[in-house]
Amino acid sequence: MNVFGLDVGGSGIKGAPVDTETGMLLAERVRIKTPHPATPAAIVRTAVKVVRGAGWDGPVGCGFPAVVKDGVVHTAANIDDAAIGFDLGGALEERLGRPVGVVNDADAAGLAEVRWGEGRNRDGVVLMLTLGTGIGTSLFVGGRLVPNTELGHIEIGGRDAEHRASDTARKREDLSWKQYAHRLDEYLRKIEDLLWPDVIVVGGGISKKADKFLPHLTTRTEIVIAKMLNEAGIAGAALAGIPDRATEKVAE
Ligand code: BGC
Repeated sequence: MNVFGLDVGGSGIKGAPVDTETGMLLAERVRIKTPHPATPAAIVRTAVKVVRGAGWDGPVGCGFPAVVKDGVVHTAANIDDAAIGFDLGGALEERLGRPVGVVNDADAAGLAEVRWGEGRNRDGVVLMLTLGTGIGTSLFVGGRLVPNTELGHIEIGGRDAEHRASDTARKREDLSWKQYAHRLDEYLRKIEDLLWPDVIVVGGGISKKADKFLPHLTTRTEIVIAKMLNEAGIAGAALAGIPDRATEKVAE
């Protein structure tokens, strides 16, 4: 089944049609800058432009950087507070005139990675981290997603972990790779003490620079770098556009 995957991010709203059997993008991505202020209405308008700009009139799934339950946004760590309580799924459905499934952006990336990428064929407890503006997490137990984990917000040294160890923190504080690796290591060690995952998949834009930080990590858990890089967000979002699909067991 082909579904349009929409990935709403802090800097861009991106989308492409996806073959949900293979995870392949079927056309060039359409990307429009995220509007500022990123009010819910402005996001909906831009997301609709991305779908229409691609000439798509089939089903749509969307990844959004917040806790999302039944299409409704519940948190706003890195987005406009006005999004809290907003029925994003309902608004997109109304404007597009068809059903739209919405999931957390990190869950979307994790679904893609577990189905088609590095997390494939791994049983047990798989944790995927998306290191970008924030720290997104998606947790899989025996191949099944535990939706909306927000483990980027655990406290380390009295501060929200994502403010210390996200890629944005690295840039904002102009950290060397070694300094950043130390921050990430501190975060990963805390997470592994709390959760004892079998493997941690590191994704997000920063995964392209893995050689800069991987050698400095001292975790006991196996760390692997996400395979799908930029495309995981869109490919996984498409899965949310298939009713009952996003939450089904992905690994056998
Ligand atoms: C949000 C998560 C999101 C992550 C990555 C965090 O600040 O709380 O819901 O998945 O950023 O975008």
